[in-house]
Amino acid sequence: MHWRANRCSLKSNNIIAKKNSGSYFFPQQTRNVTYTKTPSHTTVPLTANSSSSTTTPPHPLSTVSITGLKANSSNSATPPRPLSTVSITGLADSIQFTSLQPNNRILDQYASQPVHTITLRQLVFFGRNLSEERLIQSGNYVRTELPIRLAHRIRDFQNLPFIVGTNPHIEMVYGLYWSAFEKLRQFPKINTMEDNDAFCATVKELLKEHLVVIPQLAMGMNECSDHIPEKQINLFMNKMLLSRLSRRVLAEQQIALTENWHDPGYCEGITNDGYIGVVSTRCNARDIVTEVAKMTRKHFQNKYRIVPPDVLLDGEQDITFTYIPEHIEYILYELLKNSIRGIIEKHAPASLISDNTTSIPKSFSFPPILVTICSSPTDIHFRVSDQGGGIPDEIYSHIWSFSSSHKFSDGKKNGYKFVNFEKVPKMAGTVEEQEGARIPPLLHLGIGLPLSKVYTEYWGGALKIMTMDGYGTDAYIRIAKLGNREENLL
Ligand SMILES: Nc1ncnc2c1ncn2[C@@H]1O[C@H](COP(=O)(O)OP(=O)(O)O)[C@@H](O)[C@H]1O
Ligand SMILES: [Mg+2]
Repeated sequence: MHWRANRCSLKSNNIIAKKNSGSYFFPQQTRNVTYTKTPSHTTVPLTANSSSSTTTPPHPLSTVSITGLKANSSNSATPPRPLSTVSITGLADSIQFTSLQPNNRILDQYASQPVHTITLRQLVFFGRNLSEERLIQSGNYVRTELPIRLAHRIRDFQNLPFIVGTNPHIEMVYGLYWSAFEKLRQFPKINTMEDNDAFCATVKELLKEHLVVIPQLAMGMNECSDHIPEKQINLFMNKMLLSRLSRRVLAEQQIALTENWHDPGYCEGITNDGYIGVVSTRCNARDIVTEVAKMTRKHFQNKYRIVPPDVLLDGEQDITFTYIPEHIEYILYELLKNSIRGIIEKHAPASLISDNTTSIPKSFSFPPILVTICSSPTDIHFRVSDQGGGIPDEIYSHIWSFSSSHKFSDGKKNGYKFVNFEKVPKMAGTVEEQEGARIPPLLHLGIGLPLSKVYTEYWGGALKIMTMDGYGTDAYIRIAKLGNREENLL
């Protein structure tokens, strides 16, 4: 089966073809071991480092004997437990510490390695001239890279303040990350296509298991917002979500290339509709905006039985570029939803919004949304401009925040950040899942803007929102069109 056969209507229509002084989660880290600082990112070609998983180079500290235990690379997959009872008594602390050392020592070997970032261009070049040898090579790159990226994030969990680390949602994700880390690091070297198929099956299973990560993190952060400074929450969440996105890209690209390879109709590393794995070499700016606008307007039409605001296009529309369409679709979809909602809430009679039964006269029309597209030598710019009344200051100052600690003037917590995640157990962060109604598209989750920012910044782009409270909002998206920027993982 073709890998993208289940993609959302966009694809089926073939439109787009064309440190803290308090107690820590893991007190042992600060007392006896000095961890080396994570080196800055490096870029490597998409080649497998076959020596790094089965024979991970020993970390310099792995020889330091603290407890007398030697690092055991075949240690069980049980993650070190949060030391909830331990921090109270020093005795228990040292007992637990001794028993945990080997596992953390293995983690240290991975977390001390730099992340090997890639560019979009590398993904394309590598996938274009596909051969079994190349697929096996890239399979080994993904196999060795994913545990390194996971290890860095597991360290971030361990550096959270104690009280946050014991939150059940946070603990759940922490456990999932440990289990994935163990599975991936222990996966044997890929030597054959059969090994690669088995690796892809494992990774697919992990992708499915990890669909709970965004909702769990969001609920965890919502519950912990009063215990951790906003700046720390934002840094933690941005790193988590960027890293998560990056791991999904590596995994999905390997799965897609492998499925393409097994597809008899596939030739010369590129599908008929211009895809190389998950990357499209024929993203067309106008087609993407048109199709996303159609889908977004439809949701509001169904909900309110009205003709939603038009979406007009302007500027240099016929731009074709290479990108992962899913990413740009998600950003535009979230922005257009916000604009249409803002316009309806400002301009429609209040009764339409409150009881959802009032109809408005046929002659009534909303002010349109204007999407302007232009291209510079290095980037493509989209501006989404609406007259939806703008964003009030008390909301605007926290639109990028992952914290729910802000009190509104009426003393209530802000009502829009993350509370509705109770109704959304799984989330990939795609248009497809909203189109398929697995996530109600119009539900206020409060993650639309922060997650869109993660998507834009991942490949070196930017997302900015300018608003005129009382009138309307302009969103500016800039995405790199040359594919030569490295993954931005913070
Ligand atoms: N174009 C816009 N017009 C009016 N308000 C907006 C606009 N974009 C964002 N907002 C405000 O910012 C909030 C956060 O947006 P977002 O992160 O997309 O979360 P959600 O839409 O799920 O609430 C929205 O609830 C809304 O109050
Ligand atoms: Mg939104």
